[in-house]
Amino acid sequence: MDDSSNLTPGESARQRFPIFQNRVYLNSCSQGALSDSVRAAYESYLSGLESEGSQWDYWVSCTEQARRSFAAVLHADPDSVAVTTSASAGATAVASAFDFAGRGKVVTTSLEFPTIGQIWHAQERRGAKIVHVPAAADNTLSVDSLAAAVDEQTAIVSITHVCYQNGSRLDIDAITKLAHDNGALVLLDSYQAAGAVPIDVEGSAVDFVVGGALKYLLGSPGVGYLYANPHTTGHLVPTTTGWFADEDVHAMAIDRYRPSRDARRFESGTPPIPPIFAAVAGIELLLEIGIERTAEHVRQLNDWLIDEVVAMGGSVATPTDPARRGPMIAVRALDADQLVGRLAERGIVTSARAGNLRISPHCYNTAEDIEQLLVALRAHRALLN
Ligand SMILES: Cc1ncc(COP(=O)(O)O)c(C=O)c1O
Repeated sequence: MDDSSNLTPGESARQRFPIFQNRVYLNSCSQGALSDSVRAAYESYLSGLESEGSQWDYWVSCTEQARRSFAAVLHADPDSVAVTTSASAGATAVASAFDFAGRGKVVTTSLEFPTIGQIWHAQERRGAKIVHVPAAADNTLSVDSLAAAVDEQTAIVSITHVCYQNGSRLDIDAITKLAHDNGALVLLDSYQAAGAVPIDVEGSAVDFVVGGALKYLLGSPGVGYLYANPHTTGHLVPTTTGWFADEDVHAMAIDRYRPSRDARRFESGTPPIPPIFAAVAGIELLLEIGIERTAEHVRQLNDWLIDEVVAMGGSVATPTDPARRGPMIAVRALDADQLVGRLAERGIVTSARAGNLRISPHCYNTAEDIEQLLVALRAHRALLN
């Protein structure tokens, strides 16, 4: 699709996102901008509901389409993808499948989103021992530092793909090799990467990937994905479940637990239909624009952004090597919340985390957006650190 589409990142894609008529939107790490097609998808859900009432056969077919859409983003077989209600729901189902009596160790990092740390610590009551490996001062996390923690007691290495606070991107292939060499599995949280960083689960050999639709996949809250590698995770059966995880959802059996053999076993109850409509439309548009092309476009914008921030005397918390950063650039601030407010006064939408200003360009941003941001940052130079 990448090469045949008329849509390209930048000016051409932007026409599909009305917010750019009155905002410089640079906050995709928090929420992707609403496109005309995602709005139309929501409207079509409401129209169907209004005119037909229950449309369950159709809605279930939309859930299957969402599975195929997530699979296309991940380069996965659709049967290896569970449609979840959040990244947390996927990670919780994965955690529930482990028996920590044998291998009891979970190795994770200081770069994780809180939900991942909390889900693993919740397993301490089931015998898990959680080890956090800290990132270096420049926010990179070396494979060597993980290697010191991963051993034959390790059940799983749980890592973020891109850190939500500082944009640091981990070396997934090397970490996966390290984990597998020690007989451990890998859970990858790709929420801050998927859609703006190409992902090929078969090439990378990761075991589990979780994320959701609302950021760079251009969808909405309420729906997510869990990839489970069928070659390495088939023996893991979750203890969190629900009727949509059953091997036959129509069996309506109350006297047994017989989950699906594929990734559907990690699902739960009634699928989140409205956000599924949005996710299908958002991913369709994103794939038309092209994830590879988007990644390259964002890299170029961010190269320039980093150079200019440094030139004005500021500093970035994000590693500067393009291979070690994701789509979001974190600029160090003296008062990040105040800076977000000052930028908002100029119609520029950003966000703050951990004392950093987060700037997250996507397929719809242009050099003019970055220029406007840079003008504003120069004006508020005193708030930079
Ligand atoms: C890296 C990362 N992981 C997980 C989450 C939370 O996901 P969910 O609310 O779908 O569980 C976020 C949300 O911002 C995130 O950035």
